[in-house]
Amino acid sequence: MAHRVGVIGGDGIGPEVTAEALKVVRAAGVDLDTTDYDLGGRRYLSTGEVLPDETLDELRGYDAILLGAVGTPDVPPGVLERGLLLKMRFSLDLYVNLRPFKAGASRYNDGVDFLVVRENTEGTYAGEGGFLRHGTPNEVATQGSVNTRLGVERCIRYSFDLARGRARKHLTLVHKTNVLTFAGDLWQRTFDEVAADYADVETAYNHVDAACIYMVENPARYDVIVTDNLFGDILTDLGGAVSGGIGRAASANLNPARTGPSLFEPVHGSAPDIAGTGKADPRAAVISAAMMCDFLGEADASARMLNAVDKTDDVEGTTSQIGDAIAAAC
Ligand code: NAI
Ligand code: MG
Repeated sequence: MAHRVGVIGGDGIGPEVTAEALKVVRAAGVDLDTTDYDLGGRRYLSTGEVLPDETLDELRGYDAILLGAVGTPDVPPGVLERGLLLKMRFSLDLYVNLRPFKAGASRYNDGVDFLVVRENTEGTYAGEGGFLRHGTPNEVATQGSVNTRLGVERCIRYSFDLARGRARKHLTLVHKTNVLTFAGDLWQRTFDEVAADYADVETAYNHVDAACIYMVENPARYDVIVTDNLFGDILTDLGGAVSGGIGRAASANLNPARTGPSLFEPVHGSAPDIAGTGKADPRAAVISAAMMCDFLGEADASARMLNAVDKTDDVEGTTSQIGDAIAAAC
C-alpha cells in the first residue's frame, strides 16, 4: 500500500532538492501517495498565513511529512521558525531530532560515524520568557529553559534504544552540568537512572564545550550522542562541518510513539544565494527521505538509497544530474 506523505517543498532550493529526494524514493521502489502543501516565506508574503490550524490538522493525518526548507530574505526572523517549524515540532510532538553524520578519514581525523539525538520540544526553545519595559533603557528580557522529567526521559530512552541497536553500543550525554546545575542535574540523574535498564550500553558524559573540541579532533569517540535542544542545534552544525558539509546533513523529527506523522528534512535552509541555479546538492534531502522510508518500514529501500548516495559520492553536476545518478544507483 502507498505511504501517504505530505510534502512541503518550501522556498528557494527547498522544492528543488525535495523533487530529487522523491525521484530517488520512487527509484528505490517505494510507493508514495504525495500531496503538496504551499507553505513558507512566499506564501506568508502573499497571504500573511504561516501555518493555518486547518492545515496543521490535515498534516496530522499523513504517514509522514517531507520538508525542503522555508525562508525568504524579506520574511522577518522568527516568523517561520516559531510559526511553522517549531509549531510543527511542538504540535506533532516530534520530540526527537535525529541527525546522522558519516564521513571517511580526512586530514583532520580518522573518520566520522555518529548520530546526534537532539531533544526537540523543550529547553530554551519552548518559548518560556518575555519582555518587561520593552524598548526602554530599563528593559528586561528573559528566556528560560524548560526541562520536564517526561521530556528528558523519553528522549534519553530513545537514545539508549538507538545505541543498543548499533555495533558499538555507546551513548554520550552532552550538557553543561557544571554551570546549568538545575537542568543539568535533571538530565544527568535521568540519564543515570535509565542507564541502569541498559547494562549492555556503555555510557560517557562530556560538557558541550569539550564536545566541540572532541568532535573535530577525535570524532571516533562518538557513537550516539544525546543532548538538549539548544546544544543539539549548535553541535549538529559542527557535526555537518566535520562530515562533508551542509549538502549532506540530514535530519528526522520523530514522534517515536507514533501518535502522528514524523517529519523529515535536510538541515540546510532555502539558500536564496543559489536558488534556481542548479547548484544545490540534493544529498541531504535524499538522506532525509531515506530516513523517512526506514521509519515507514521500508528498511531495504532505505538502505539501497543510502548505499546509492555513497556509491555516487564523487558525482558532480546540477541538482537534477546528481539526483538522476543517485536514482540510477538504487
Ligand atoms: P542556508 O543553509 O540556506 O545556506 C547557508 C549556505 O550554505 C549558503 O551559502 C548556501 O548556498 C549553502 N547551502 C545550503 N544548502 C546547500 C545545498 N543543499 N547545496 C549547496 N549549498 C548549500 O542558511 P542561511 O543562508 O542561513 O538561510 C537561508 C534561509 O533559509 C533563511 O531564510 C533561513 O531562515 C532559512 N532556513 C531554513 C531552515 C529550515 O527550513 N529548516 C534551516 C535554516 C535556515
Ligand atoms: Mg540549526
